[in-house]
Amino acid sequence: MADIISVIGSKGGTGKTTLSHMLCHGLTLIGRRAVCVTTDEDRDPLSTKGRHYVQADARSPVAREKVVAKLRDLKGWTGVLDGGANRTEIDIALYQLSDVVLLPFRDSPEDFRAVIRDLDLFPRAFALPSQWPKNRFQQEAARRHMETWPEEFRDRLLPPVFSLSASKLLLQHEVPEDLPSTVNGACRTLAKQVLNLFEDDEEDVADQLAQARDAAEEGDDT
Ligand SMILES: Nc1ncnc2c1ncn2[C@@H]1O[C@H](COP(=O)(O)OP(=O)(O)O)[C@@H](O)[C@H]1O
Ligand SMILES: [Mg+2]
Repeated sequence: MADIISVIGSKGGTGKTTLSHMLCHGLTLIGRRAVCVTTDEDRDPLSTKGRHYVQADARSPVAREKVVAKLRDLKGWTGVLDGGANRTEIDIALYQLSDVVLLPFRDSPEDFRAVIRDLDLFPRAFALPSQWPKNRFQQEAARRHMETWPEEFRDRLLPPVFSLSASKLLLQHEVPEDLPSTVNGACRTLAKQVLNLFEDDEEDVADQLAQARDAAEEGDDT
């Protein structure tokens, strides 16, 4: 059966769709086969032009069941389920059938509140800082915000995916063959980090997260 990752959360605009495509693209760059599964009724599925991963349309409950049944047969593949905002029941269903669950959030008080509620609701899920500020001034503000992050959820906080305007190229109808190396690099890093969440026991994950966070804090001083 395929490995299943879902990218969910109650708030809109956190980067679920972008991160789902970044993850699929990153997986293909490290030699994996991936399917990006749209579950959001408000979005049209993208074409496969220029993509090295498969797209699946699971916007209706019936289609969702079919796609999930198909994924169960696809050994060696990774299915990435792109969620939609304000759909707790669907999020619960996606959570239950996923091996790894990601909850993206941006640096805003509303996003903090929403992701903390979701972390409570989904005890296996990881919070993924998304569109994270890159300039020094905003980063300092984000760092101060993160000091208010509840201690009980520290172990479930992934390293940030930084703001990268070229990431929107992945959501174009047709993806250009030559993506900027910054996009490829960010996708590859994300895919490796998420794959690490599969095999390890909880203690290893906590250790790796601490190391990855330290590395990100040292390396992103742009
Ligand atoms: N890492 C990023 N850097 C810059 N912009 C981003 C990034 N991730 C997402 N965005 C932008 O944020 C907006 C919302 O992203 P989207 O992936 O559609 O969120 P969601 O699916 O959660 O509603 C889009 O305009 C998208 O281009
Ligand atoms: Mg979306």
